Amino acid sequence: MNHTAPTYAAGLAVLVLTLAACGEREPPARPIAPAPAVSTPATAAADDAYDVTKMDFKTPPAVLSSERHTGPFASGDALSLGALLKPLQPAQVKEIRLDTTHKIIEIAPGVKFSAWTFGDQVPGPAVRARVGDRIKFTMTNRSDEPAPGVQMTAAPMMHSMDFHAAMVSPQDKYRSIAPGQTISFEFTLNYPGVFMYHCGTPMVLEHIASGMYGMVVVEPRGGYPTKVDREYTVVQSEFYTRPDPTKRKLDGQPLHVLDNDRLRSKQPNYTVFNGRYNGMVDVPLQAKPGERVRLFVLNVGPSNTSSFHVVGTIFDRVWMDGNPDNQFRGMQTVLLGSSSGAIVEFIIPEAGSYVMVDHHFANAAQGAVGLIAAGGPGGDPEHHNIPATATPDNAQAVAGKLAFESKCLACHSIGGGDKLGPDLLGTTQRHDDLWLARWLKSPEEMLKTDAKAKAMLEKWKIAMPNQGLSDEEVKQYLAYFKWADAHVKKP
Ligand code: CU
Ligand code: CU
Repeated sequence: MNHTAPTYAAGLAVLVLTLAACGEREPPARPIAPAPAVSTPATAAADDAYDVTKMDFKTPPAVLSSERHTGPFASGDALSLGALLKPLQPAQVKEIRLDTTHKIIEIAPGVKFSAWTFGDQVPGPAVRARVGDRIKFTMTNRSDEPAPGVQMTAAPMMHSMDFHAAMVSPQDKYRSIAPGQTISFEFTLNYPGVFMYHCGTPMVLEHIASGMYGMVVVEPRGGYPTKVDREYTVVQSEFYTRPDPTKRKLDGQPLHVLDNDRLRSKQPNYTVFNGRYNGMVDVPLQAKPGERVRLFVLNVGPSNTSSFHVVGTIFDRVWMDGNPDNQFRGMQTVLLGSSSGAIVEFIIPEAGSYVMVDHHFANAAQGAVGLIAAGGPGGDPEHHNIPATATPDNAQAVAGKLAFESKCLACHSIGGGDKLGPDLLGTTQRHDDLWLARWLKSPEEMLKTDAKAKAMLEKWKIAMPNQGLSDEEVKQYLAYFKWADAHVKKP
């Protein structure tokens, strides 16, 4: 329905007035007024977990120094470095250090990426605390420290820390600091949730896409209303990479750097859980039949959504943004925008391998897949259109595999039998490189002139379409076919 013109005009007037009021508003004077009791009975106010008059917004100014920290890049009892989330530490004050570094990380087999980090890892360590806890945070910008033996990280630069779990002045606490500088600030956690932290230095998009993010879990004051057997964190994020234009290599493998064109057009080439392509397929999370599993899920983005799903079970509870007051029951997926979090809980009904995916399957095909191993026969984690194939050991073949799975899977398999077109296993033994390259590049020309190509059309009846591949893409396909012919078993 269209609103009438007068209503629209009135709405605009209200908006303009509101904006004007915002511009003039003074900082709120303490004590902060309670929310107006519109529909809540006065007696309920005493139990209100969101009574802002009882929250703690007091925080001294951030402290900046030129003292350089030289110890570990991450420290604090409240930190967990991997998917396994450590139990809550009882101390009410939680001291945390997350230094920034520049580092080469491996985001897929053979894909070395020039990353920027918190705590020297991507994602940064997860922080676990509870409502009422005081976070005392310190960070040294150590982006100018060369990693041993590596001279190919990005130039040192300004970095900062932005905690979505905090309520503080961004201009004070989230300011950028130079290499060699240290910033400290503190705040009290007032709301429960699964929150993102990230670098907020412009261009924020580049700093997040380079790896500067992590999760803060804030439990409700009284803990969660359910008991679980397992707790894991799953951080989804995108990588936008291209081979280093200056062709630098590390351990014989090409270095990959941020691809700004992909970044700005929201076209990642990897979408991953916990920083690695198919990472939790290679190292599954553990559980047992009958157990209740709690996953703390965060979609970092920076630009795409996640439709998080676990194959073979249903989310008994979903707490949006990780707050049990935002509860859904019996959900199949949870849709997370960039920087949205959730806690999902489910039962493992029987022995099996439960596949975690982003149900946007284009994202899953870029690596957003993981497994919960709950006993039973092993077997391939095949699901929907994700073929249960091993991952090639070099970047060119990995790129070829990704391209194959997005463009060719409808008509071809590799080792899975003939489809509309032939099974391509053994193709590098049937044809030489030159022939394959010409065939991939211009099949219509080959069909006019080449006897082998003519014979194939005779047999299969359908002409292979020209995919408009670049020379680089043709090389990637060949690398993948060669890898497959050496590694994929004949059915
Ligand atoms: Cu940064
Ligand atoms: Cu943010």
